[in-house]
Amino acid sequence: MEDPTLDITAFQQHLLSWYESERRDLPWRRTKEPYKIWVSEVMLQQTRVDTVIPYYERFIEAFPTSESFAYANEELVLKMWEGLGYYSRVKNLQKGVREVVESYGGQVPSTRKDISKLKGVGPYTAGAVLSIAYGLPEHAVDGNVMRVLARILLIDEDIQLPRTRKTFEQAVDRLISKEDPSSFNQGLMELGALICKPQRPQCLLCPVQEHCIAYAQGKETQLPVKSKKTKTRRETWQVLVVQDERGRILIQKRPNEGLLASLWSFPLQEQTSPQPIQPVVEHMVTKNVTNGEFLVQLKATQPMQPVKHVFSHVTWLLNPILIQVETLPTDWKEPFALLSIEEAKQRAFGVPFQKIIQQLED
Ligand code: ADE
Repeated sequence: MEDPTLDITAFQQHLLSWYESERRDLPWRRTKEPYKIWVSEVMLQQTRVDTVIPYYERFIEAFPTSESFAYANEELVLKMWEGLGYYSRVKNLQKGVREVVESYGGQVPSTRKDISKLKGVGPYTAGAVLSIAYGLPEHAVDGNVMRVLARILLIDEDIQLPRTRKTFEQAVDRLISKEDPSSFNQGLMELGALICKPQRPQCLLCPVQEHCIAYAQGKETQLPVKSKKTKTRRETWQVLVVQDERGRILIQKRPNEGLLASLWSFPLQEQTSPQPIQPVVEHMVTKNVTNGEFLVQLKATQPMQPVKHVFSHVTWLLNPILIQVETLPTDWKEPFALLSIEEAKQRAFGVPFQKIIQQLED
């Protein structure tokens, strides 16, 4: 239960002065432009700060304003996001930014009601942009903030349940500094990142230790309460790396929805029982090349290094096989393309497929 005796003013002071002296110098902390804060917050969802930094810098250099990003070529946008994962994030971000340009003259709305209507802007992103860019006392509750507050206030609700977020939003509404909501919210995030870590919280260094009920009761490692994760599925795919005698490879763009949506990959088939290669490649060629009939001459096939990739709900085991053929037709129809390795590398691939391309270069 929450402690009604928490000294809110002292808590704010301790958090804010710690944040002031310990805050990391991160590139998105040098701006107050709402568009840039928005980009950073979307990148930071499900991705570590260290990973995000170079992506953020490249992205802002390429698209310094909402106008420059709103209509940018999707292939280029995906290439900038390549490796960050959760690619629907950037597609939704672009749709949201486009709405800002078209309906708000390029100014990101400054009320929760309006900003929340934008594509891809959930309660967390809304609160982060409103508090950090506009200095408004709005809650921004993500998993890290829930962990920190679960401990400080001894909240034992299951943070995996969607309705629990409300409890934490109300807690932030009660605690947030009206003088400096930006530093308050970022202070909670920073505390979660540097001190109040999931596994080994550094309570002896904590600036708000004296306010923490979990610490007082020795329960900090029992919180937050998180129901068991659902088990992830495993899928095994055979990846067909078809290469012609000139070294060109056959690549395939993934559908617009689902895992690694709109990114490039190789043709692949779920590997139930081993399939003979020749008829599969033959079928692909005759079905997808405009002039129909074509006899594929296999030169050699060779297994490549398997690649494992863990997504949030599924683990992929990819078994790539290099299939060298003599000639291939060049007039491939979408979603296929026959490209040199250099040309292919200009396209945006999912990480597991980048690893396969890397093997071709080794
Ligand atoms: N995680 C989410 N938002 C963040 C921010 N603004 N700074 C550091 N880490 C974050």
